[in-house]
Amino acid sequence: MRGGAQPQLMRCDDDGYYVVKFLENPQHPRVLANEWVAWQLASKLGLPVPHAARVEVPEALVERSEDLVIQLARSRKKLRGGAYFGSRYPGHPAETAVYDFLPDELLAEVENLEDFVGMLVFDKWTCNTNGRQAIFYRPHGGSRYQTLMIDQGFCFNAGEWDFPDAPLRGLYARVRVYQSVTGMESFETWLHRLERDINEKVMDEILSRTPPEWYNFDHAALYQLLERLLDRRRRVRDLLVAAKDTYRQPFPNWK
Ligand SMILES: Nc1ncnc2c1ncn2[C@@H]1O[C@H](COP(=O)(O)OP(=O)(O)OP(=O)(O)O)[C@@H](O)[C@H]1O
Ligand SMILES: [Mg+2]
Repeated sequence: MRGGAQPQLMRCDDDGYYVVKFLENPQHPRVLANEWVAWQLASKLGLPVPHAARVEVPEALVERSEDLVIQLARSRKKLRGGAYFGSRYPGHPAETAVYDFLPDELLAEVENLEDFVGMLVFDKWTCNTNGRQAIFYRPHGGSRYQTLMIDQGFCFNAGEWDFPDAPLRGLYARVRVYQSVTGMESFETWLHRLERDINEKVMDEILSRTPPEWYNFDHAALYQLLERLLDRRRRVRDLLVAAKDTYRQPFPNWK
């Protein structure tokens, strides 16, 4: 696949296809932990994220596959067998076309376009230091597009886990997706879910379910990350207002 982490599309034994990110990726090993933690949190909030899985890549497959490498500037790094993060492809790649971008005219026709509003709450909360990324596809050849939110690798500021909030971070490149925002009340459903659905118990589950090799067995660091997330929920309103006041004017209909 395209992308800085150099992920690979792999068919798995549940007959699903997954976009797999490896620990040896050029971004940071913690990108896998970030994807996993963010997937669990976003799912809890009812945001449209692809199903995720821990994908076991056999050593024998890596040995036999010339393409299972990380391309460096002047060399190739051979991957190793192991368990890696997989993000499920919606449907079969030969049948379902997936797009990284849609022109504004087609964006207007995306069935769940308003989920971008919820995802902004999420990206502000988790301090996603990349722009928001999404994919678009038409389920079962239907006429309307659906969007799924992908690439949570730079939530918590990639490998840093330090939350350097900044007004433009986490926004989607096309402000068309925020056209329904008319004020803070447009975010309230999501802010409410953040309070209602995220708690210590959810964080404990995440702590116990995240494969430790994805965060270098640094249990204390992950614990602290999750604690800070619980705490940061009350900052999200201010972060949204800061985004509103930027030159990008992401919310043209905010009165
Ligand atoms: N679940 C998925 N289903 C279909 N395609 C996907 C899925 N996840 C990722 N992709 C595709 O793979 C590409 C790379 O994925 P992703 O953006 O997560 O990787 P990345 O290496 O972190 O990228 P970046 O360079 O933006 O940091 C995406 O642009 C998208 O086209
Ligand atoms: Mg990406």
